[in-house]
Amino acid sequence: MSTDQQPRANSGMFRTKTVEQSIRDTEEPEHALKKSLSAWDLTVFGVGVIIGTGIFVLTGKVAKENAGPATALAFVAAGIVCALAALCYAEFASTVPVAGSAYTFAYASIGELPAWIIGWDLVLEFALGTAVVAVGWSGYVRSLMDNVDWHLPASLQGPDVAGGTFDILAFLLVLVLTAILVVGMKLSARITAIVVAIKVTVVMIVIIAGLFFIVGDNYKPFIPPAVTPEGGGSNWDSPMVQLIFGYEPTNFGVMGIFTAASVVFFAFIGFDVVATAAEETKLPQRDMPRGILGSLFICTVLYVAVALVVTGMQHYTELSVSAPLADAFKAVGHPFYAGVISFGAAVGLTTVCLILLLGQTRVFFAMSRDGLLPRFFSVTHPRFKTPYRPTILLGVVIAIVSGFTSINELATLVNIGTLFAFVMVAAGVIVLRRTRPDLHRAFRTPWVPALPIISIAASLWLMLNLPGETWFRFAVWMVIGVVVYFAYGRKHSRLGKAGQDATY
Ligand code: ALA
Repeated sequence: MSTDQQPRANSGMFRTKTVEQSIRDTEEPEHALKKSLSAWDLTVFGVGVIIGTGIFVLTGKVAKENAGPATALAFVAAGIVCALAALCYAEFASTVPVAGSAYTFAYASIGELPAWIIGWDLVLEFALGTAVVAVGWSGYVRSLMDNVDWHLPASLQGPDVAGGTFDILAFLLVLVLTAILVVGMKLSARITAIVVAIKVTVVMIVIIAGLFFIVGDNYKPFIPPAVTPEGGGSNWDSPMVQLIFGYEPTNFGVMGIFTAASVVFFAFIGFDVVATAAEETKLPQRDMPRGILGSLFICTVLYVAVALVVTGMQHYTELSVSAPLADAFKAVGHPFYAGVISFGAAVGLTTVCLILLLGQTRVFFAMSRDGLLPRFFSVTHPRFKTPYRPTILLGVVIAIVSGFTSINELATLVNIGTLFAFVMVAAGVIVLRRTRPDLHRAFRTPWVPALPIISIAASLWLMLNLPGETWFRFAVWMVIGVVVYFAYGRKHSRLGKAGQDATY
């Protein structure tokens, strides 16, 4: 090993793992994942996780409360932020083809503490994201059950429903998906492919059938004028940017588009999950960028079309906030389409949950393999070759969280965590270009450092449009993470130990 390939000085929390070491770790048979995925599998995974609660549920809410017909522009804004981040993710994923997403990439570039912070942040994104989608899924299933006059007792409908406490459907969904992941990646990829086809078909039905019911007047005004929300004045619900600069809080108007973008951003979460499957990809250098950028592009086009169609079918003030795509068809007198859409949404949200759960376990797996979490979790199953221990542990925890938690409180927290990871990844691209210019990069982010810098600014801008209370919760979570690192990870890190023994 040449000198420049040694772990850099292993000096405490900014020690970095080399890319070569990251790849070598994946080759230890006890800790290896099976390489079975192609670019097509990755794109299916991407579309499978990206289209979900964001488009099926949040579109109606932001159109009604923040942006009106200009919700389509909010999707464009959020899509641009994601495309910039995707170009950075693609370079990292094709340079460091091992499990762990932004966590692994940061470990190879910025250092151990920033990597830990990202990993901890991704736990928030994926675990809470899984819970949010499970709760959304449960809502659609209950709506389908209502169609056949079959009702669950109120107490088992979850905290979002009057009189509800525990969401039994969301809980059971997460447990079943956990079992599927334990049995193996390939099985879940096949299931995913079928479900993704159903979901995309339903979205296409919304777009094509909905075109015939668009009324031009519903687009007037396309950007509704800014209004002061009920209660007025600043409070912790107001976007951070308004709290910092002391604006009078408003909904709608141009600022409303950015508020909407920071919420519908949830609809794009998932393309980064594709990167977590790098280690299980046959030709990661070629297929990762194709999988990430391809799935993101397809989803952006579909979202803009859906937002335009739905706000054209119904005036934004009348849109439903729980099942807006289906209810828009009910509103124009087509309950049959509404039923088909509800069915497709319920089926489609299943894969979103599955893949978020998958991303979650893979990040946990990588952190454990590095010793930042107990190594017990990174031993793969002797037969299935899956990281079954973190899969089971996290699956049970997330199932409980999804049973007891309200969807709204969690979605913005997921968004801020994800945007923060985008900032770290874009910074990482710049750092790695300087520290390891020699590495082969199958995909190179164009215009470095300008593009990553713009990506950082754009992600920060969306973060600033999230509520002050979301920032506070996020800060608490990250402080806990730093405490855990200093109490456990710093001492048990394999890289740190190797630095002491000089045997790494
Ligand atoms: N993008 C995914 C969704 O919209 C997480 O549900």
